[in-house]
Amino acid sequence: MNEFQDKYGPWALITGASAGIGEEFSRQLAEKGLNLVLTARRLDRLEKLAEELKAKHLIDIRCIKCDLSDMEFMSSIRNSVEDIEIGLLINNAGFGLGGSILDGDLNRQLAQLNVHCRANIILTHEFGNKMLERNKGGLIFTSSVMGFFAAPYSLPYASTKAHNLFFGEGLYYELKSRGIDSQALCPGMTKTEFHEAAGLSRIGGMHVTPVIKASLDKLGKKPVVVPGLWNKFLVLLIKYLPRRIVLFIWKRMAQKLRRDKI
Ligand SMILES: NC(=O)c1ccc[n+]([C@@H]2O[C@H](COP(=O)([O-])OP(=O)(O)OC[C@H]3O[C@@H](n4cnc5c(N)ncnc54)[C@H](OP(=O)(O)O)[C@@H]3O)[C@@H](O)[C@H]2O)c1
Repeated sequence: MNEFQDKYGPWALITGASAGIGEEFSRQLAEKGLNLVLTARRLDRLEKLAEELKAKHLIDIRCIKCDLSDMEFMSSIRNSVEDIEIGLLINNAGFGLGGSILDGDLNRQLAQLNVHCRANIILTHEFGNKMLERNKGGLIFTSSVMGFFAAPYSLPYASTKAHNLFFGEGLYYELKSRGIDSQALCPGMTKTEFHEAAGLSRIGGMHVTPVIKASLDKLGKKPVVVPGLWNKFLVLLIKYLPRRIVLFIWKRMAQKLRRDKI
């Protein structure tokens, strides 16, 4: 057993494992020898990924079909993992929503709140408390560079990502002395299905592999991980420019990108 398996094994649970960032977490954790619990709504995709990873690595994988916006989502997960120890929880599932909050679809906004925040809190309670009993484990919250500022025309998204940032970062300090590592992963634009699913434009973006490598390399060492030099530079600007200038620039960019909708 290697050091990573000893600290964060024997099982990792990844939400949003059917695509993009969650899928890549699954691949890199499989390489590190962790058994995996994969969750998302698209079970066929999870099962295909599980088959591929099991053929390559000597690991067990369980797939759970689960909609995290469903109020009762936890019962389906709980039933499938009662007999195993989750040593690493990756709170990653999410989706984008753009536009002004008042023109937007209230149900989609509430679903986003449930997936990005409510589900993460419930899962963190469930598995974090069991990690505390063992004095070891890890929690990763996928936030975003958009969690650093109150982005006009993306407020439901940015505010839930600020929630993920606060949880990942704050829990690092709360739980470190009790053996649990927490992290807020804050990617910038990344090449996944995210933008297409949200009907948004993507200009460039990082490949998903180095994003996840940065997260796993820094787990236990840094509370907040911003992958890539360009994203680090952006976060520095967001932190040190006057807030009103950051929000003004973002508002102009959002209006330009969504000319037809704003
Ligand atoms: N891509 C970027 O540029 C970027 C940048 C910063 C942060 N992020 C964050 O990274 C995370 C992952 O996004 P991604 O880029 O990998 O996007 P993606 O390729 O679209 O993947 C999103 C994942 O979330 C799952 N998901 C969405 N709604 C769900 C629901 N109601 N219940 C359960 N699972 C759900 C999807 O699975 P199913 O559809 O099968 O349910 C899918 O596995 C998100 O939290 C996002 O906010 C992305």
